[in-house]
Amino acid sequence: MLINIKIAAGLLIVISMTGAIVFAEELKPVELSAPQMDRGKLLMQALKERQSNRDFSDKELPLDVISNLLWAASGVNRPDSGKLTAPTAKNWQEIDIYVAMQKGLYLYNPKKHILEPVVAKDIREFTGLQGFTAGAPLDLIYVVDYSRTDGDEKDGGYYSGVDTGFVSQNVYLFCASEGLATVVLGSIDKPTLAKIMNLRKDQKIILTQPVGYPGSK
Ligand SMILES: Cc1cc2nc3c(=O)[nH]c(=O)nc-3n(C[C@H](O)[C@H](O)[C@H](O)COP(=O)(O)O)c2cc1C
Repeated sequence: MLINIKIAAGLLIVISMTGAIVFAEELKPVELSAPQMDRGKLLMQALKERQSNRDFSDKELPLDVISNLLWAASGVNRPDSGKLTAPTAKNWQEIDIYVAMQKGLYLYNPKKHILEPVVAKDIREFTGLQGFTAGAPLDLIYVVDYSRTDGDEKDGGYYSGVDTGFVSQNVYLFCASEGLATVVLGSIDKPTLAKIMNLRKDQKIILTQPVGYPGSK
């Protein structure tokens, strides 16, 4: 468990699971720019180029790209109804997208189109077991909130996997359109990651998905 103690405006002491004390900048909400609808490749071209790529450059993603990425993943595309770019069973909207970056972990709020601070720590290395997630500028973590479903024993367990697939494919297509590298990952130490993220018992990690510029390999 991470314990955060605020000692001054903008500064935190973070006590990690190992008891280590680190100073960290307090995370602030990140306002995302309005998604840009007038860019990107034709859908057929993006489908042609969709692929998994596990080689990432550590170059930062600009904020407008992050904004477009998250909106494409599961942003509000019909403000009147609050419905999303990805379908969800019974419109539960039960899949949360957490965003792990060097400066910390955030939660994407699609209604406000902002990133909300969660943990002031770089947790990218914990989002996959194959090593490369730590080097990607951003790792998406798809988490189901069963409190918004009929419960994980009923359709919630099955549908949440399906609903995550739609989000992941939106991200794949956005990345193909923007020339970005991405791969969806099931190979994760979920209990450890859930602890680091301070998830509740009725939240479960489904998949993760690093995103970045392609590396040089
Ligand atoms: C549910 C799911 C879990 C996956 N987990 C991993 C993973 O843990 N590690 C990995 O390198 N690729 C993972 N992949 C990516 C697949 O290996 C990849 O999609 C497949 O090899 C086909 O390649 P393509 O995506 O380029 O078409 C996963 C894909 C899916 C759909």
